[in-house]
Amino acid sequence: MSGSNMFDLGGRVCVVTGGGRGIGKSIAVALAAHGGKVVVTGRSEAVLKNAVDDIRASGGVAEWFTADMQDEAQVVRLAEIVADRFGPAHVLVNNAGVNAIYKGAEKTTLEEWNTIIGTNLTGVFLACREFGRQMLAAGRGSIINISSIGGRTGLGKTAAYCASKGGVELLTKSMAIDWAPKGVRVNCVAPAYVETDLTSGLVEHPVLGARITGRTPMARFGRPDEIAGAVVFLASDAATYVTGESVAVDGGWTAA
Ligand SMILES: NC(=O)c1ccc[n+]([C@@H]2O[C@H](COP(=O)([O-])OP(=O)(O)OC[C@H]3O[C@@H](n4cnc5c(N)ncnc54)[C@H](OP(=O)(O)O)[C@@H]3O)[C@@H](O)[C@H]2O)c1
Repeated sequence: MSGSNMFDLGGRVCVVTGGGRGIGKSIAVALAAHGGKVVVTGRSEAVLKNAVDDIRASGGVAEWFTADMQDEAQVVRLAEIVADRFGPAHVLVNNAGVNAIYKGAEKTTLEEWNTIIGTNLTGVFLACREFGRQMLAAGRGSIINISSIGGRTGLGKTAAYCASKGGVELLTKSMAIDWAPKGVRVNCVAPAYVETDLTSGLVEHPVLGARITGRTPMARFGRPDEIAGAVVFLASDAATYVTGESVAVDGGWTAA
């Protein structure tokens, strides 16, 4: 594969969880712009419909289905619907996630822990298992899990979040080893702080916002569209020899 076609996703079925807003929407827009047939999922119908309307208005191909990634039956059903309507997925982007709650482990309730682990880690496992089976049967596929710098290094007051994202990093590597001989690649993209609903409290926070930009070599938060390029790369034939990798898109955070 060479030259201009390297990133072409022409007609490939690309599922983006949490694809209605934030980083997920930017990823869905970018995959569609590269020719992917995009399926966005999440819990809010209105948000998903909006994202699909935007993609279609730009000439892209997109559909939406609701699914709560914490609910095994809904994830199983989602994978069945996608396979029935479009055939086995080529690309799965596990982006759906919930925020850190900014408290130490000693103050974290089991309910808070279960919500974060259930969405950010168990939800990723379930989607990888269900869509992974389709990809293994087809003998090809690319899964991209959105982890975080908090999955590579400890961040203060985010114990459950870091545990969930660290789990995603190693779940990714383990599946990558198992599935490499069968044509299915599994990688992570690990963003630092990106301006979305999830971080709106931080961006505007006079102390924490400045602390984050001060710690980031590029001295700013990232934008959602800046995460999408790494995902397109990993989804495409430009990355056919890349698996079990985690690409930091972090303004230099993990280099410092
Ligand atoms: N923003 C950052 O600074 C940053 C940094 C590192 C990593 N990340 C990761 O990047 C991903 C996207 O973050 P974001 O900042 O774009 O967040 P966001 O703007 O809050 O969007 C989160 C997305 O996840 C979906 N979602 C949440 N819980 C869900 C569930 N149980 N089932 C299905 N969908 C669910 C939401 O859709 P519904 O509410 O409609 O369900 C929404 O589309 C997350 O995994 C996050 O941990 C973000």
